[in-house]
Amino acid sequence: MIDIHCHILPGVDDGAIDMAMAVGMARLAHEDGIRTIVATPHFNSVFLVESGTVRAKVSELQAELDRLNIPLAILPGNELRLERPQFIYEALKEKRFCYLADNPGYVLMEQSWEGYNEETPDVVERLRAQGTTVILPHPERHIFFRQQPELLEELLGIGVWTQVSVDSLIGNNGAEAEAFALSLVDQGQAHTLATDAHNLRRKPNLSLGYKLVEERAGADAAKQIRDRMELIVASSIYK
Ligand SMILES: [Fe+2]
Repeated sequence: MIDIHCHILPGVDDGAIDMAMAVGMARLAHEDGIRTIVATPHFNSVFLVESGTVRAKVSELQAELDRLNIPLAILPGNELRLERPQFIYEALKEKRFCYLADNPGYVLMEQSWEGYNEETPDVVERLRAQGTTVILPHPERHIFFRQQPELLEELLGIGVWTQVSVDSLIGNNGAEAEAFALSLVDQGQAHTLATDAHNLRRKPNLSLGYKLVEERAGADAAKQIRDRMELIVASSIYK
């Protein structure tokens, strides 16, 4: 399996605090059946982890996993937060963040927790014009999407893919997030699944998510999600 959202890089954001924890997360991921992780440190006003740092830390972690014979590929990525469109546009021009798996076809871009950014459709269209699909992490965890599902429907209508978190599907993010996540699965609107793992408790648990999707929506729905993951990492320069 491929995990496209994971804060496994050591010491850069609120994810793994050091190399030992990153290795611990890698072991759990491998036991779960994950073989590729796109590392997605935050790119926002609190944790601004830029592409140079991402690449250096990916190499460092990969070298350690190779040394320990943990067969897991780590690829570069970022989790952008749409706080100000202008900031995203400038960062885009200056290549300050990593696309998912370094594939300019996909970017992981979340909303702020405080509220929905009304300019999101403009940013999505601008990215789409250059051939980039926006993947929206954990919409089920945002109160504004739960209260105004039409906001999400508008984004889906212009080609946004959702990323539903496994923790939400199994109830770890509360009953409301669980219900919304399951409804996305039921409606065929869970385009991708990921762990958003941060540590050894908020851990890699992707197989559980696929199991739930298969039970509720069928094996074909789960396969479609797997195929999208393959597409994202397929052109990675690391493969
Ligand atoms: Fe995240």
